Amino acid sequence: MKRSKAFTVFFMMVTLMFTMTACGNENEQQTTDLSKNEMTANEDGEDTMKNEDPAADNILVAYFSATGTTKSLAQYAAHILNADSYEIVPEDPYTEEDLAYDTDGRADREQKDSSARPAIAGGIEHMERYDTIIVGYPIWHGQAPRIINTFLESYDFSGKTILPFCTSHSSGLGSSDTDLHPLASNSK
Ligand SMILES: Cc1cc2nc3c(=O)[nH]c(=O)nc-3n(C[C@H](O)[C@H](O)[C@H](O)COP(=O)(O)O)c2cc1C
Repeated sequence: MKRSKAFTVFFMMVTLMFTMTACGNENEQQTTDLSKNEMTANEDGEDTMKNEDPAADNILVAYFSATGTTKSLAQYAAHILNADSYEIVPEDPYTEEDLAYDTDGRADREQKDSSARPAIAGGIEHMERYDTIIVGYPIWHGQAPRIINTFLESYDFSGKTILPFCTSHSSGLGSSDTDLHPLASNSK
């Protein structure tokens, strides 16, 4: 039941990916979180996305988001699944200049270098708790940002199900799907 719900969310997010345009323009880096998603209340103080399901303790939504677009989807997924969420935060935060693409800036250079592995600040202490990990990221030059490679190489995902999703201006998954498979080859 939990697994099928995770798949439903995943497909919903892939659909969103194709319709979404990037609207975030804040470059501030968010702090690492690993928590149950908080419900938000509307102006009348009523919960707007109430989730009656029991906690999905075996699902983790892990995401990297440089400008907030992927973060909002990840938090929505974590909320409706009542799952834990974890933000992949770079040890060296990306500045606006780093992210300016086609300028040979930091992000451009990392994407050109398949061995680049930007360090992650903090980590997940109890990965063994999770059976399903939903991994969200923005598309950078048709690929997942290299920090996702760092993340996938940092844990043992044997036997776990990994569901990737991404946001972009207009591209699809690009090569991120096939690129990431070998990095977690023991996962489902
Ligand atoms: C370095 C860089 C490269 C990008 N490359 C692409 C791309 O190839 N195709 C695309 O549609 N969007 C591209 N984008 C736009 C992002 O994928 C899009 O804005 C995404 O939703 C940002 O997510 P975030 O706010 O979670 O960081 C790129 C953005 C950056 C910073």
